[in-house]
Amino acid sequence: MKKPQDPLRSLSVEKLTPLEARMEWQTLGEEIARHDVSYHQEDQPTISDAAYDALRRRYDLILSAFPELQKEASPLTRVGAKPSEKFAKVKHTVPMLSLANTFSDDDVSDFVDRVRRFLDWPASRELAFTAEPKIDGLSCSLRFENGVLSVAATRGDGEEGEDVTANVKVIHDVPHHLHGSVPRVIEIRGEIYMATADFLKLNQRQEKEGKALFANPRNAAAGSLRQLDSKITAQRPLKFFAYTWGQIDGAMPSDTQSGMIKAFHKMGLPTNPLTKRCATLQEMIDHYRLIEEQRATLGYDIDGVVYKVDDLTLQSRLGFISRSPRWATARKFPAEKATTILLDIDIQVGRTGALTPVAKLQPVSVGGVVVSNATLHNEDEIARKDIRIGDTVVIQRAGDVIPQIVSVVEEKRKHGAKPFIFPDHCPACGSHAVRENDPKTGEPEAVRRCTAGLICPAQATERLKHFASRNAFDIEGLGDKQIESFFADGIITRPRDIFTLEARDARSLKKLKDREGYGAVSVKNLFEAIAARKSVSLNRFIFALGIRHVGETTAKLLARHFGSIEKLRDLAVKAGHDGQIARDTLEAIDGIGPIVAGSIIDFFAETHNREELDALLEHVTPEAMEAIEVSSPVSGKTVVFTGSLEKMTREEAKAMAERLGAKVSGSVSKKTDLLVAGPGAGSKLEDAKKHGVEVIDEEEWFRRVGS
Ligand code: IVH
Repeated sequence: MKKPQDPLRSLSVEKLTPLEARMEWQTLGEEIARHDVSYHQEDQPTISDAAYDALRRRYDLILSAFPELQKEASPLTRVGAKPSEKFAKVKHTVPMLSLANTFSDDDVSDFVDRVRRFLDWPASRELAFTAEPKIDGLSCSLRFENGVLSVAATRGDGEEGEDVTANVKVIHDVPHHLHGSVPRVIEIRGEIYMATADFLKLNQRQEKEGKALFANPRNAAAGSLRQLDSKITAQRPLKFFAYTWGQIDGAMPSDTQSGMIKAFHKMGLPTNPLTKRCATLQEMIDHYRLIEEQRATLGYDIDGVVYKVDDLTLQSRLGFISRSPRWATARKFPAEKATTILLDIDIQVGRTGALTPVAKLQPVSVGGVVVSNATLHNEDEIARKDIRIGDTVVIQRAGDVIPQIVSVVEEKRKHGAKPFIFPDHCPACGSHAVRENDPKTGEPEAVRRCTAGLICPAQATERLKHFASRNAFDIEGLGDKQIESFFADGIITRPRDIFTLEARDARSLKKLKDREGYGAVSVKNLFEAIAARKSVSLNRFIFALGIRHVGETTAKLLARHFGSIEKLRDLAVKAGHDGQIARDTLEAIDGIGPIVAGSIIDFFAETHNREELDALLEHVTPEAMEAIEVSSPVSGKTVVFTGSLEKMTREEAKAMAERLGAKVSGSVSKKTDLLVAGPGAGSKLEDAKKHGVEVIDEEEWFRRVGS
């Protein structure tokens, strides 16, 4: 039987009252979501493409006529960021890393000096780098097996991306077969982007069809690549530049960066014609200037220049530091600036209680993006720059970085403008907000914090938002707005409440589906999204706990090292009970210093944190990541280097030892396992003898670690 037509459906959008628009928009959202499920998950389209498009168009049209609806929860609100579960995951065998940034000629010169020092490369000896544009798109890894494109994956978090093979196969620029002799397996990495002209045309088309516009070519490229239907991707003119590689099985096509790029070109891959080998610092700087001059006429967006050490043997000697290679850096173009008025200063309370001032600005366009908020860092920064409400301020924005206030235009200051007084009470709960002393320097910290802990509603909601956020539990449909409203109504006040929500809703008379902005479909989706997170990777679980100083990288480190949350908790609790050995064990993990170790210990020392953890574990199973066995002859050992080393610099030696799982110390004690001594070793050699520490020379070191 045909469903009676919704009476509002026949009204044109201009005729709708705000209330009708809201109702109509909600029902449309639910209807579209239902069709989405039938189409994408059940492969059973329930309506024709044209009818679906008409619904979508009306939905978008209502939104553009009543933009305040944006704030409302709709089953489609998160459509921009397509649910990532729809794409299969791909583990990168070689992680996809990011680049460190530099901003000036001096920074580049420092970078070159650092590389030289690390390699002990004299100033007189040539050290070549490549210089090439930094493309503003999204990186992608293309795996070719026996010359045939087999898998294409997005970067994701660098370790795991999404399988976008079907979509990449419809990009004209990307060959399905490589030419000539190629390694058996080669992962070509590069940037997928959209040319400026194509972006403008696409937006014109979107506008004509009443669809949402893309903010910039990068967003357009990302949105086009992450389409579930590769037919849509095929209509979007995406392009590709190859600039690096991942796994290679078989002979390396070249032993230099520039040679590799030439080889890629010969294989039939698009490479950037502005890639240049530079033999001197001056050439590196000149090439940056040349690219900067051509920026506006290239036809695609770039946001800087990338420098890479040319010699691949040197690249591997240099290795990585944290998430970026030591052998490369990005020189970013200067930030774009604009002038506007500071309307107000908001104080936001973060999940650790930090009071962060946020500048509320009269909206202004900076480099094509409308900016209405900017960071003010902390109270000292406001005082140092003497920023007052009502001031005319210069703001700047570089790439994805949050806009900043650079300075105040003092001549334009209004008479009577008063210096800003930073609150000493938490604006959310009224408790005292204090600046504690930094344990290291004894000086007050820059940050003022609310002292109320979880009793402070702002801290509690921020922790919940963090818990459900994309890089933590990633619960679709439980965004910041929903958490705020659930928290305000006492429905979700602690992480565990998320997992009891469905059972409580079943018992409750006030059903979630009757909440404003909800409906049966959105509630069902939410419950499903929550249920899907009952098992979650251990690193996400640790990150979600919101331990201070434990970001994603540290969470991964801990997950790998401990393999289970119980092991981490037990060690941290032991360390908290004045267990020096336990504390040392924590600090001995490469990448964990005393500050991070301290906050892990503090976290587990809190009874309510341990209780929450236990309660959570009743509902959630963290999937153990495989503990990496850094099984080298020196893993777990404490090593000291002394005297002059011949084959490597001290810094290189330290990095190498750490990579192999050893802890490098600066002085010899009874805890030292190994002293690597070169010619000219002095007191450390004597100390080693005193403590009975084994002493070896550089040659023996290389023999043991097998390189
Ligand atoms: S090389 C190990 N070269 O920049 C280094 N990256 O901040 C791998 N990018 O995720 C990157 N143009 O998306 C490299 N010519 C270029 C690039 C480039 C753009 C992006 C890439 C990467 C990000 C790193």
